[in-house]
Order: sequence, then structure tokens, then C-alpha cells
Amino acid sequence: MDCAYYNARQCASCALIETPYAGQIDQAQQQVAASLGLDVNDLALPVRSTESGFRNKAKMVASGTVRSPLLGIVDRAGHGTDLSCCPLYPEAMHEALDVLKGFITRARLVPYSIVDRTGELKHVLVTISPDEQIMVRFVLRSTEPLARIKKYLPTLQSALPSMVVATVNVLPEHKAALEGEREIFLTEQTSLPMRLRDVTLHLRPRSFFQTNTELAQALYDHARTLAEPAHPATVWDLYCGVGGFALHLAPVSSHVTGVEISDEAIASAELSAATAGLDNTEFIVGDATEFATAQLGRGNTADLVVVNPPRRGIGSRLAALLNESSVGTVLYSSCNPTTLARDLTMMDSYVLEHVELLDMFPHTSHNEVLVCLRKRL
Ligand SMILES: C[S@@+](CC[C@H](N)C(=O)[O-])C[C@H]1O[C@@H](n2cnc3c(N)ncnc32)[C@H](O)[C@@H]1O
Repeated sequence: MDCAYYNARQCASCALIETPYAGQIDQAQQQVAASLGLDVNDLALPVRSTESGFRNKAKMVASGTVRSPLLGIVDRAGHGTDLSCCPLYPEAMHEALDVLKGFITRARLVPYSIVDRTGELKHVLVTISPDEQIMVRFVLRSTEPLARIKKYLPTLQSALPSMVVATVNVLPEHKAALEGEREIFLTEQTSLPMRLRDVTLHLRPRSFFQTNTELAQALYDHARTLAEPAHPATVWDLYCGVGGFALHLAPVSSHVTGVEISDEAIASAELSAATAGLDNTEFIVGDATEFATAQLGRGNTADLVVVNPPRRGIGSRLAALLNESSVGTVLYSSCNPTTLARDLTMMDSYVLEHVELLDMFPHTSHNEVLVCLRKRL
């Protein structure tokens, strides 16, 4: 992939960009195999991504001025770089970001300065669906610009008709966070339909979604293929987010329970299940380890458990709980092979049956890995 920002030394996020894509995949396979103490030939065929235009979410820091806003990254000295034509995004995202810069000028949204702690607009978060519909979120220091945003919203909607959801998120504190707790909807529509092949996930703000939609589809499909031979009557999808695994496993199971810490993500999952007419799913706001501890403590179990934790992994408590449980199959989807390897050392009552790299984050050293663990007989 050719990138003008990288060539001009304005952005170094894609650290592997100079390595041809086939070489990146080989390197990733070797890293995953080494982390798990396996031979590279023990891994399944890797799932490749398209090399550009695959990223569905732009998390842009606002900088510059009202007249000439920049959407991209900011260094510690407060110097901003516009990355709105980043080739990781599809063309429709580039067009949307361009329109949004015009809106920032029109609505006089003063970019927040991390050095002076002045200004209002901290971030612009844009998500694009497979149908090229868009959710836009303005992360503000306060609600001071809200009236102007509302006033000029109709002009933004005319210029960007694909924008079906728009919100203001309020982040008053000066801290390294992407978003705050308070979300104010500007549109009647409150969720963005992410239409995968046979499941539509209704994404509300403040909910995690896999950043590469094509690879997310592959991940959920492959999880279903690995689940099917186990004929699982009961499934727990721990760290379920907006329910991607749960909703793909619902057709091959009698009952699926999703557990997730974010209430917004659970609201998304419930909406998606209801819209799909599913009556065998249940979603619970809570901590994954606490849920498993309580259920297993009461003698309740599952035939199959999916875990898809943040980078820190599932940790020793949940790994030990699963290891001592009668859960027959565990599908562990990890974005960090190091914590995956650490957790697996505590799960020796399982056989590592399948290990697969999914290149969710091309041009970086980050990888998604899906493993299937079956209980030793
Ligand atoms: C890598 S994302 C996976 C989301 C989902 N499985 C998917 O495919 O989109 C990890 C999720 O874990 C959630 N999470 C973080 N800590 C948690 C906890 N202690 N218990 C339950 N969920 C948690 C996050 O909010 C996030 O949605």
C-alpha cells in the first residue's frame, strides 16, 4: 500500500507498510506460532485482508483552527497532522471527513488545544457501515457549541446524506480518553446497521465493533464452523460487545447468553437480536469472570464458551475456572498473542485443536488469532 502520509513522514502508524503484504502475513504467522510454542505448519491457513480501504472507524483528533481544521493525529507539543485521506479508510470515509471539516468551520467548532486546554472539539469519530451509511460523533469538552451544531445540522445532513446517526459526546476532563460518558443524540436514529452476510448488528455509540468489517465476517463465520461439530445446546459469549459471535452462533445452538461490561453494547446486541426475531439469545451487562464464577458456582455450565477479551486477555481467574469446568469447547479470539499464550498455559485440560491468524490490522504488528480448544477426554 502506498501512503503519502507515511512517505512524507507525517504518520508512522503502519509500521510494516514497507514490507510487501505476503511478507507481513508470513511474519505474523511466525510470531503467532512462536508465541504459542507451535510450528508455523500447525497453524490453519491465514485469513488475509484487503490491503487498503478496510477500516470502518476513523478516530480523529481535531486540531488546527476553525477556518482550517485538521482531523488526524496530534503530537505532545500540540502539533496536528491531517490524516483524512488515510488509505486505510474507504473512499466514502475520505469524502465524509472532508464534508465534516467544512461543517466544523460553519458551526464554529473550535478545536481543543491539549497544550492550552482551550477550545471545544476534541475528536470526531466516524463509523461507516458496509452499506456506506455513516455514524458521526463530535466529542466536545462541553455543550457550549451544541446549539450551533443543532442549527447547522440540516446543512450537514444535506451535504452528507449517508449520515444516519449523529451525536455529541461530552468529555469535560483533560485526559487521554477518546470519549466521555454522556451522549446526546442529534438524529432520531440511534444505531448504525452493520449488515454482515446473514446477521445485521445494530451499532450504538460507545460500543466496540471489530475495525475491519470483512475480517469480522470471517471471524464470526469461522467461529460458527468450529462450533458446529460440538452441537452446543448452550453457549456463553463472554466479552460479547454488540453480539457478533452470539448472533452468529444462535442458529447452531438452543440458547446463547452474551455477557459484556458496556450497557450500550448490550443495548445494541438486544436490538440486533430483536430485529432478527431471535428468541434464543439473552444479553447481560456484567463482568465476564464474575458471570462465569456465579454460574459455575451454581452448577450451571455451557457446552461452548466464546471469549473475546480486550488486549489484557481473560486473566488467570477465568482461565482457571474454564480449565476446571465441564465446558467442552472454548473458542478464544484474541487480539494479543502474548496474553493468549499466557492464558492458555492455565488451560491444560484442553487440547489446542485449531489456531488461525486473521489479519484484522494490516501493516501493523497487531493480529487477531482464533483458537479452538476441546476438553481432553
Ligand atoms: C475485543 S472486544 C470484543 C467484542 C465482541 N466480541 C465483538 O466481536 O465485537 C472486547 C469487549 O470486552 C468488553 N469488556 C471489557 N472488560 C470486560 C469485562 N470485565 N467483562 C465483560 N466484558 C468486558 C469491552 O467492552 C469490549 O466490548
